[in-house]
Amino acid sequence: MKNLLVTGGAGFIGSNFVKYILNNTEYNVINFDKLTYAGNLENLSDIENNERYKFVKADICNQDEVKKTIEENNIDTIVNFAAESHVDRSILGAREFVVTNVLGTQVLLDCAKEFKLKKFLQVSTDEVYGSLPEDDKSIKFTEETPLASNSPYSSSKAGADLLCRAYFHTHNLPVLITRCSNNYGPYQFPEKLIPLMIAKAIDGEKLPVYGDGKNVRDWLYVDDHCSGILAVLEKGKNGDVYNIGGNNEWYNIDIVKLILKLLGKPEDNITYVKDRPGHDRRYAIDSSKIMNELGWAPKYQFPEGIEKTIQWYRDNEQWWRKVMSGEYLKYYEKNYSSKIS
Ligand code: NAD
Ligand code: DAU
Repeated sequence: MKNLLVTGGAGFIGSNFVKYILNNTEYNVINFDKLTYAGNLENLSDIENNERYKFVKADICNQDEVKKTIEENNIDTIVNFAAESHVDRSILGAREFVVTNVLGTQVLLDCAKEFKLKKFLQVSTDEVYGSLPEDDKSIKFTEETPLASNSPYSSSKAGADLLCRAYFHTHNLPVLITRCSNNYGPYQFPEKLIPLMIAKAIDGEKLPVYGDGKNVRDWLYVDDHCSGILAVLEKGKNGDVYNIGGNNEWYNIDIVKLILKLLGKPEDNITYVKDRPGHDRRYAIDSSKIMNELGWAPKYQFPEGIEKTIQWYRDNEQWWRKVMSGEYLKYYEKNYSSKIS
């Protein structure tokens, strides 16, 4: 493994992963990203001139562009992060989710097959398993839990996940699948719970909590997801699925209250709003397979990770303010215009 094609590398987890790889391995990284609303090259401004890094603006659904990039860069491995990732948006319109998450993955799989790549890692999600009962904390998602996705987003991810399985079984493609729980950390788009609440709390705005606030998510610091993906890439068994999670369940309302406490803000602005349709009640990941078989363990405990994250959003206010104003969308043209042919 030498030349990694990282799709969706301008998004939240993808951009953290690109840096993680440059800092912790000797691999070259080709970041292949369409730059949808969720793609922000400013996330990578500190490494954009690294000689082991290259950016290609393209769509994973475009087979010619994928092939050209594989050929020109002698790619041997694909790590597929590219996706429409926000559940609320998938409820408003599912089309883009099916196009990118399902068809895009199929295009990448076909190209991996044609070029006989050494590895194809699909970054899937715990949401493919559906929802857990909230009253029995001993039940968690294992790799054997049947897929029972409930939102258009998670169903499109489940479709992609199963296509990957099919290419392993039918074509013997060296496929690996990771299913991770909710990530948090720097560069997360402020439409997701934690960065949205931090931004609103700093600005003294109302904090919209869906339903009764008692939905449970299992939070993992983004660098720990990155180290888990690298462990699977380097040591995972082809055809296998690996859950990744931090054993760190929280009610949404408690996360919101913790953020307010750490920012020294009162709770008056917490506002219960209409629930998300089809809202999954609880996610919880059993990570014993990746821990026992690959020796992976999360490095960050939640109290440290959340403080680090809040500090990052405080120190990088202009990053999320530019996202909220839409100014971030000009970054590519401004900084890459000389490289656009
Ligand atoms: P994100 O929305 O922040 O980033 C997605 C990236 O994909 C963006 O840079 C976007 O421009 C790019 N992209 C979208 N469509 C594309 C296309 N057709 N071609 C090329 N690039 C395209 O997402 P994220 O939160 O960083 O999640 C990354 C991956 O991890 C997704 O596959 C998601 O399903 C999975 N995942 C996310 C979480 C989480 O908590 N955020 C947890 C588990 C798994
Ligand atoms: O579990 C992994 C998944 O986590 C990933 O696959 C998805 O890409 C990622 O977006 C995330 O999905 P969630 O729906 O869990 O994340 P989100 O941040 O949108 O919401 C977290 C919880 O907070 C959820 O129960 C809904 C709730 N919520 C969210 C928002 C944006 C609120 O109560 N208020 C809000 O304003």
